[in-house]
Amino acid sequence: MIVGTSDGIGLALTRRLLADGWRVVGVSRSPGRIEHAGYQHVQCDVASDGYVDRLTGICADLGVVDLCVYCAGIGEGFDPEDLTAEGRVFAVNLAGAVSTVQVVGASMVAQGVGHFVGLSSMADRLVSGASPSYSASKAGLSSYLRSLAFALRPAGVYVTNIRFGFVDTKMAKSPIKPMMISADQAAGVVLRCLKRRPIQVSYPKRMAWLVAMFGWLGTLRVLFGRVSFGRAS
Ligand SMILES: NC(=O)c1ccc[n+]([C@@H]2O[C@H](COP(=O)([O-])OP(=O)(O)OC[C@H]3O[C@@H](n4cnc5c(N)ncnc54)[C@H](OP(=O)(O)O)[C@@H]3O)[C@@H](O)[C@H]2O)c1
Repeated sequence: MIVGTSDGIGLALTRRLLADGWRVVGVSRSPGRIEHAGYQHVQCDVASDGYVDRLTGICADLGVVDLCVYCAGIGEGFDPEDLTAEGRVFAVNLAGAVSTVQVVGASMVAQGVGHFVGLSSMADRLVSGASPSYSASKAGLSSYLRSLAFALRPAGVYVTNIRFGFVDTKMAKSPIKPMMISADQAAGVVLRCLKRRPIQVSYPKRMAWLVAMFGWLGTLRVLFGRVSFGRAS
């Protein structure tokens, strides 16, 4: 099952899995873009009220879900004049993943086997005025998946958190995109994780170091912000 399969990394991954002989069920709001005997598309919004029931029905029909990759995600630039998008980013990037675990994870636990992969981001380390909801929702997702990996392992279920830098899709809106990889390269990273099933992968590694450095700079800015606030008051 690939959640967020109509575009970007999810689409590239679905194509690679189908070529490797997997049967794939894809979920997204848009109609499916793949015509293949092994592919079934479900049009659904992960942030809608009916999502959990819909997913429960799909899992019951499938019987066994070996792999679920949560690729659905959105990122909105911050607009102080309109904060309505903030909640939606958390609903899709974080709550949607938790709802998916609630249903698919339960099905995998009942099977005693399975692999849940979530696409997070290196932005999970950033203090970002440009997109607070994106970095915070990804921080929540990374933290959740890392802990979930330990919680579900005794039940036979593997969990992997993948942190990408820039990937060449419509999601990558920054004017500067160092070390950007293609959606197909990103799909290749996910496929390699299916063999080793690590708890976390950050790719590209050099980008992860760079972002970690910016993360520390952001922490310093927060600390200095606190100091000057303390002095002023
Ligand atoms: N591109 C990057 O630079 C980058 C870097 C790090 C991490 N990531 C993460 O990788 C994941 C995939 O990103 P991408 O670059 O492939 O983005 P993308 O090209 O924009 O694709 C996002 C996918 O999520 C689906 N989606 C969005 N909202 C949804 C909703 N409410 N319900 C169901 N499906 C929904 C979209 O389909 P519909 O619009 O049809 O619903 C689409 O298939 C995201 O979680 C993103 O945060 C991306």
